[in-house]
Amino acid sequence: MKMPSLGFGTYRLKGDVLRSALDSALSLGYRHIDTAQIYGNEADIGAGLASASVPRNQIYLTTKVWFNEYAQGSLIPSLEKSLERLQTDQVDLTLIHWPSPADDVPMATYLEQLAEARERGLTREIGVSNFTIAQLEEAIDILGEGAIAHQQIEVHPLLQNRRLRTACAVHDIAVTAYMPLAYGKVLAEPSLQEIAARHAVTPAQIALAWLLQQEMAVIPSSTNPAHQKANLQAQGLILSDEEMQVIAGLDRGVRCANPDFSPKWD
Ligand SMILES: NC(=O)c1ccc[n+]([C@@H]2O[C@H](COP(=O)([O-])OP(=O)(O)OC[C@H]3O[C@@H](n4cnc5c(N)ncnc54)[C@H](OP(=O)(O)O)[C@@H]3O)[C@@H](O)[C@H]2O)c1
Repeated sequence: MKMPSLGFGTYRLKGDVLRSALDSALSLGYRHIDTAQIYGNEADIGAGLASASVPRNQIYLTTKVWFNEYAQGSLIPSLEKSLERLQTDQVDLTLIHWPSPADDVPMATYLEQLAEARERGLTREIGVSNFTIAQLEEAIDILGEGAIAHQQIEVHPLLQNRRLRTACAVHDIAVTAYMPLAYGKVLAEPSLQEIAARHAVTPAQIALAWLLQQEMAVIPSSTNPAHQKANLQAQGLILSDEEMQVIAGLDRGVRCANPDFSPKWD
């Protein structure tokens, strides 16, 4: 199954809030779910998927391995525990959530375990997240061209990450835009509001359409069924070249995910 370009992000969602948001997302037609070990919600997602009427093979499921599991001998057992919590034999995609802070664990150590996890069938595809251009190139040197299928990075109109996206395209690595709404910051952007009014939609939908039109996958998170539905409908919007250009001009380096263990960003 190819990754559906509109996915459901689950960061911060847990317990009953997660279960009800997931139920409504699945019934609205979401077929791509993004989780991570560090979100602490894999078991809730596993329970939600097990009780859903949508068969597992119609859902593209991504998880991410946290950096305390990168040491030799740790990554595969930790992914096996994720699979147990998610109540599945295989995820569709496993990502390295962040490059190892300060290179505590050498990149080859954790990437080779990730590749082995794929060989063992624990994950169908593998990828990385929050890697810089230099780290992406190092990763390709380690695993070879074509091994890394996806990179998940922060992209939205206020942080467009163009150089990194170009590097991904050169190596045929698909980009998933996380925090595609800049955790709500895009909603107040006057030019997005203006374009949205022209299309009789919302600024959130314009931000998502702008990303989708550049062939990125997007994983907005929402607990509100009306927002979930609107986000799905962004797939039907077509922005003009002039509108795409106006939004391209909004790049201001507004980075929402910037923990102290971040790499030196491009
Ligand atoms: N790889 C990484 O390191 C990384 C880092 C951060 C995030 N992520 C992934 O990316 C996903 C998305 O990021 P995020 O949740 O931080 O931020 P986001 O999707 O940019 O924003 C979520 C916020 O926007 C609101 N919202 C959603 N749709 C809306 C709409 N149509 N109109 C108005 N408001 C709307 C939500 O509120 P309501 O609930 O009220 O709708 C929520 O407060 C995460 O859940 C996670 O899966 C990955």
